[in-house]
Amino acid sequence: MMNTAERNFMTLQFAAKSENESFARVTVAAFVSQLDPTMDEITDLKTVVSEAVTNCIIHGYDSNPDGIVTISAEIINDTVTLTIEDKGNGIEDLELAKQPLYTSKPELERSGMGFTIMENFMDEFEVSSQIGGGTSIRMKKVIVSKKALYN
Ligand SMILES: Nc1ncnc2c1ncn2[C@@H]1O[C@H](COP(=O)(O)OP(=O)(O)OP(=O)(O)O)[C@@H](O)[C@H]1O
Ligand SMILES: [Mg+2]
Repeated sequence: MMNTAERNFMTLQFAAKSENESFARVTVAAFVSQLDPTMDEITDLKTVVSEAVTNCIIHGYDSNPDGIVTISAEIINDTVTLTIEDKGNGIEDLELAKQPLYTSKPELERSGMGFTIMENFMDEFEVSSQIGGGTSIRMKKVIVSKKALYN
């Protein structure tokens, strides 16, 4: 059986307001810092958290601040799993939504690259969504500890 010391987790819930984006990004980075990630890994994680949280706010909840965003992070050995979810609109066509450059809000000057960035920056990326029920993004990344690089 796995030693419990090798597993850690946290959950964060906050109002769907853009001013909470940096708070969410920094909190996830602080939690993952126990794995001693490189600067590049931290940057990747912060970027995907920003993208996913922005999506919850502007697409999931149409910028209604009554919405709630939930982030869970789990660390098992050297792997971090992030789940970022809203209980908002949901996505009608997932395959279309995941296409690079596809955006349903061109009027807001979105570039349609959020999902593509998440897919590229993380080792695993999965979306599940229900119309009227919300959207959940699950992503995994293996952290190559700085200790391993420099020793
Ligand atoms: N949480 C969500 N709830 C509802 N729809 C979503 C959600 N996340 C993404 N989508 C849909 O998927 C599309 C693609 O998302 P993606 O993040 O790739 O691009 P974008 O948000 O439109 O633009 P960008 O992220 O580049 O600003 C969105 O335009 C939206 O239609
Ligand atoms: Mg986006």
